[in-house]
Amino acid sequence: MRILARLFRVLLKTLRGLAEFLQKVVGWALLSISYFAGIGITAIVARMCGKNFLGQKSAKNIKPIGKIYPRRNCLRRNIIDNFDMNNVVQRFYNASPFPDYELDRFETTEDLELAAKTFSKILDRSIPQEASIIDVGTGTGQLSAFLSLRRENVLGVDFSDSSLNKARSLKEKLALKSLTLKKVDVLNEEQVENIGEKFDCLLCLGVLHHTDDPYEGFRNVTKLVKPGGYVAIGLYNKCGRTLLKIRRLLAKTIFRNNERAKEYFIRLQLGDEQDAETIRGWWNDQYEHPQETAHTVGEVLDWFEKNDIEYWGANPSLLFFDKSDPTISGAWNSADKRYPGPLARFCKQLKWMWTTHRDGGYWVMFGRKKNE
Ligand SMILES: C[S@@+](CC[C@H](N)C(=O)[O-])C[C@H]1O[C@@H](n2cnc3c(N)ncnc32)[C@H](O)[C@@H]1O
Repeated sequence: MRILARLFRVLLKTLRGLAEFLQKVVGWALLSISYFAGIGITAIVARMCGKNFLGQKSAKNIKPIGKIYPRRNCLRRNIIDNFDMNNVVQRFYNASPFPDYELDRFETTEDLELAAKTFSKILDRSIPQEASIIDVGTGTGQLSAFLSLRRENVLGVDFSDSSLNKARSLKEKLALKSLTLKKVDVLNEEQVENIGEKFDCLLCLGVLHHTDDPYEGFRNVTKLVKPGGYVAIGLYNKCGRTLLKIRRLLAKTIFRNNERAKEYFIRLQLGDEQDAETIRGWWNDQYEHPQETAHTVGEVLDWFEKNDIEYWGANPSLLFFDKSDPTISGAWNSADKRYPGPLARFCKQLKWMWTTHRDGGYWVMFGRKKNE
């Protein structure tokens, strides 16, 4: 009897401890939910009242484009007649070309080479010199210009006049004969077909996730690749972009008047970048964009499959224990070509939440068009 009573007491104590613990967990969970819900509701109310989230002041170098374009959502779509997100994105890039830079930075082609990022150099080394290249969504053309230094035929296409004008100024200034620039909307099948040529290499970096229909854009542009041709698609990753989304929410709500916080956020991505135009362009692209989507690796593998593109690799790598160095092995290296299984994809993307947060969860998938 005494043993039973003792057991009962122990059980009661354990249950009480468990109840206290659960109370704490639930309390914290409710507190966090109400905190974020509070931020969300304030944001929605402010937006509905037409308030500018960025407040009136802005940091010396961080200049928002000044107007918040309507975001894509059903409510807005119903309210605004003839809502055309493609047009909104086009206006955005006309107001804020990307990647923006001061033209004075480039006096000679050597300046272009010196300014080339590591990833641009990897592409330059990986794409054969005799290959023709199309850079879809070339923006202000810095990458196309750099790749054209060693090649005969590089075409940069974009639908933003301001971006193309800047790219044209760069081309003229540096007398880049093998670079051609053309206005094309990737969602317009006819305009894409009118390019009238197929290429050995397609680059479409950081473009499709800003379109109204990323898969449609992908389908259109991959028709421009020759059999056996190289394909590189850069997109925001669903997991990888999480921390940037949180920073963006904070920048638009509790830190909306805090220029030091915004400066800190953009410096996470740009380090000690000094070019004011570059900083302004990046701020707008990452924190002010009217349209963006994020994608999973599985989704893009599916796009590849449906459009006869063979998977070759990714940056960052999708393989466990991958010690290869892309600056040495290049982007389309058959030795590194291993299809990532579901477990590797899951673990890697989870890791990208932290490892790619400074790049806003950006990753690039490489493939080659199958031979017919
Ligand atoms: C973030 S920028 C990327 C620029 C460049 N590819 C890079 O990696 O730095 C996106 C570019 O895609 C272009 N773009 C977006 N939607 C487009 C569309 N439907 N047709 C053509 N270009 C588009 C924009 O004008 C912009 O220049």
